Amino acid sequence: MNDQNAAARPRTALITGANRGIGRAVAAELYRRGLRVLVTARDSHLARETAAAIGPGAEGYALDVTDPSGPKQVAAEAGPVDVLVCNAGVLLDAGTDPLTVPMDLVDQTLQVNLLGTWRVAQAFVPGMTERGWGRVVIVSSGTTAEFGGRLFPKTPGYSISKSALNGLTSMLAAQTAGTGVLVNAVNPGRIRTRMMPTQQRTPDEVAPFVADAATLPDDAPTGGFLTEQRGRG
Ligand SMILES: NC(=O)c1ccc[n+]([C@@H]2O[C@H](COP(=O)([O-])OP(=O)(O)OC[C@H]3O[C@@H](n4cnc5c(N)ncnc54)[C@H](OP(=O)(O)O)[C@@H]3O)[C@@H](O)[C@H]2O)c1
Repeated sequence: MNDQNAAARPRTALITGANRGIGRAVAAELYRRGLRVLVTARDSHLARETAAAIGPGAEGYALDVTDPSGPKQVAAEAGPVDVLVCNAGVLLDAGTDPLTVPMDLVDQTLQVNLLGTWRVAQAFVPGMTERGWGRVVIVSSGTTAEFGGRLFPKTPGYSISKSALNGLTSMLAAQTAGTGVLVNAVNPGRIRTRMMPTQQRTPDEVAPFVADAATLPDDAPTGGFLTEQRGRG
């Protein structure tokens, strides 16, 4: 079923982990581009506060991506989502190695970065395919082995989670091929956030790159791993 009313309404974008860092900057950038923006965050107060700071009409929703029913609840409350930015992520095992990293850290990392993203995709992508249009951006990382690179061993759980997200991107792209839904992973490069506090580049600097991936034209590729050329991460 194609969404005949889509042209009459602004596209709606939902961003996970949008209360700070890259997610918040991407939400603000998509708002500036005229989309209806749904800010989601674990803390409902921060979600609403961030939405209010972004501008009139932006909406805040509580969403912990590890909550098995959370994404579907938000989907039911918020209505159709056309653009999904799976940004929520954690880096818990910096400085460890694959042979000694505490496996509970790996478990927590996979719960958020991989399974959380997968769960969010299950809640929102079927609606996109039914309506015949959608854009999904999965925030990955340069720590993965994409394109023959080396899997970064000093954040083993994190690197595996992001490598797996690239696999999820490929699968979702194949599953949605020809439906009007494009699914791509992005590598934002190294950005100064709570996760990477010593980096130079700011979330505002990378937000246009991620927003571009979230608003690709209909003839753009799907299943890609897009790298922000000015940064490496
Ligand atoms: N910064 C970099 O250099 C860099 C490089 C490559 C990739 N990335 C990726 O970019 C994304 C954003 O990271 P960032 O750098 O902006 O880091 P950040 O400032 O630490 O932001 C992480 C966001 O994820 C949220 N989050 C964590 N666990 C969550 C959960 N269970 N449910 C929902 N939201 C959750 C956090 O919410 P709370 O405030 O509630 O904790 C926060 O909003 C991540 O996927 C990260 O892996 C970052």
